[in-house]
Amino acid sequence: MQSFIQIDSPAYLRAEQLTMPAEWGTIFGNDQPLVLEIGCGIGDFVAQTASEKPETNFIAIDYYNKGCYKTCRRLERHELKNVRVLREEARQFITERLPKASLAAVYINCPDPWPKKRHRKRRLVNLQFLDFLQEYLTPGADFFFATDFDDYGLDVAGFMPELAGFENCLAPEPFRHDIPGYHRTKYMRKFMAEGKQIYFVHYRKL
Ligand SMILES: C[S@@+](CC[C@H](N)C(=O)[O-])C[C@H]1O[C@@H](n2cnc3c(N)ncnc32)[C@H](O)[C@@H]1O
Repeated sequence: MQSFIQIDSPAYLRAEQLTMPAEWGTIFGNDQPLVLEIGCGIGDFVAQTASEKPETNFIAIDYYNKGCYKTCRRLERHELKNVRVLREEARQFITERLPKASLAAVYINCPDPWPKKRHRKRRLVNLQFLDFLQEYLTPGADFFFATDFDDYGLDVAGFMPELAGFENCLAPEPFRHDIPGYHRTKYMRKFMAEGKQIYFVHYRKL
């Protein structure tokens, strides 16, 4: 069993110390747009993306302790001040700590695919989740989803048009295998090295 790593980093927040919802303007010390990455893994994507967007505040969450630790270490190495990391489950975190209509973008990269048919209901991203998430998005907010798993990519690309009040930024295609300028995550690089294609879905709230 892996031992639990104590994380002592200025980027790391403990949700139980925050208000419900949290006051993100006070936490970051400014009112820049707020963006959420769900399942940040080792933090390579958020570090690269946040370093290109210093005028945006990023929240990176993952319920994997070691991933949060690695993410914080990476942010410190890059001296990034516009990212906060929490070891949190996505739905619980959003419900408890985010004000409605507060997110300018959400990124979900290579979420666990739950490939077995009987496990598919465990997938994070489905129509119910998007219906829940959309209340937390500002008008004009971006939703990015990326997966290497064909069935997951086709499923998300297939149900997104059913969601009222969103436009497909990749139209007329329902998904693409590349978005120029979109940083590759550890899992994307691993899957691409195995010859797999990534399915990118990008929608915007109207
Ligand atoms: C397959 S990994 C991908 C990591 C990273 N995004 C990448 O592409 O390299 C999925 C990550 O999502 C996290 N995760 C899965 N479901 C989650 C949830 N409901 N809330 C928070 N994190 C979650 C897992 O702990 C894991 O680190």
